[in-house]
Amino acid sequence: MSRLLVTGGAGFIGSNFVHYWIARHPDDRIVVLDSLTYAGNLANLEAAAQHPGFRFVHGDIRDQGLVESLLREEELDSIIHLAAESHVDRSISGPDIFVDVNINGTHSLLKAARRAWMENPGTDPERYRFHHVSTDEVYGSLGPTDAAFTESTPYSPNSPYAASKAASDHLVRAYQHTYGLPTSISNCSNNYGPYQFPEKLIPLCIVNLLVGKALPIYGDGQNVRDWLHVDDHSRGIELILDRGRVGETYNIGSRNEQANLDLVRQLCRSVDKLFAERPELCDRFPEAPPASGRQCKEAIEFVTDRPGHDRRYAIDSSRLEDELGYSSTTDFETGMDSTVLWFLENEAWWRAVMDESYREWMTDQYGQ
Ligand code: NAD
Ligand code: TYD
Repeated sequence: MSRLLVTGGAGFIGSNFVHYWIARHPDDRIVVLDSLTYAGNLANLEAAAQHPGFRFVHGDIRDQGLVESLLREEELDSIIHLAAESHVDRSISGPDIFVDVNINGTHSLLKAARRAWMENPGTDPERYRFHHVSTDEVYGSLGPTDAAFTESTPYSPNSPYAASKAASDHLVRAYQHTYGLPTSISNCSNNYGPYQFPEKLIPLCIVNLLVGKALPIYGDGQNVRDWLHVDDHSRGIELILDRGRVGETYNIGSRNEQANLDLVRQLCRSVDKLFAERPELCDRFPEAPPASGRQCKEAIEFVTDRPGHDRRYAIDSSRLEDELGYSSTTDFETGMDSTVLWFLENEAWWRAVMDESYREWMTDQYGQ
């Protein structure tokens, strides 16, 4: 039985990971620490809150004392560190919080783990694991024919977000090398799935279609990302926690490279198809293009490019595949259809997360 601390567990990947973990490891203790920024939402954890082994703690990873006492009091043996500022566009308009949360926050968490886990005489480091979730963006940008990123690709981060994640990866590595803290790192590609905040490309486009807004495509739409279903990501982390080597880095991808324009067209087809199959959707979403006989792709609009926009990311997950038997199992079309369906069926969720007052209310109601 494991006792997990999941930081950022009220965010997109964190909440999906919590659901995934509870379904597969129902006897484990799982404590979520989350400060509930605009991206964190207790509604994402409603199902988990019914589980007897689950606890939510409203707090900040930069509060070293809080983390240390949680690790001791709950006798937690694993940290899955997901808490971060995560949106590239926000890092361009306001980088300070990215440096503070992603770098200082990760450092604070490392210090807490070191004190709680390593400073007792006779401690067996094998019992513990600090797993840090990072991104492929630390490797920089690829040309059209370059080989995909491996774990030994030199770091070359281009946005303030990527730079802050790169710095946090280095700190995690240094704490393992210098102090023997049992760490591992995963660098994954772009995730998609339920509960993703509607500022990232896929949920933004789904919601915009449903409310009759344009689909903003940066630049020429030919930037390429390797899209990974969030459940495949959770399985990759599970494998690393279970059998991954301490001090090692593992890339997690899906071998699913898509140019943004192709991806958005695929998403449009998915929404068109669902509206054709379910005519009642036209009454629920009268502003959506199919409700007035138009195709969703007509909503595509090219807009000014993101400054410093990385051209292409591609992940080589061979290490995870060969050492730990990983493969991504979600076919992209199926994953996209199920994600669109989730947003159609969870209108209350996306309307609420876009409403500041609702989030404040939830925090007052349930935050600790
Ligand atoms: P998200 O923005 O949806 O969620 C982040 C969560 O962290 C939120 O719940 C937020 O409230 C919480 N948080 C932020 N600052 C905090 C703090 N100081 N203390 C405690 N909690 C805090 O992000 P996500 O998309 O779920 O990403 C999770 C992790 O995965 C991040 O580390 C991100 O860098 C990494 N990642 C994400 C993607 C992706 O495609 N989404 C890809 C690669 C890596
Ligand atoms: P995003 O979801 O922000 O993830 P990341 O920047 O971490 O890759 O963006 C994915 C891709 O989509 C990226 O190339 C930027 C592009 N994009 C748009 O074209 N329009 C948008 O409105 C957004 C949010 C992103």
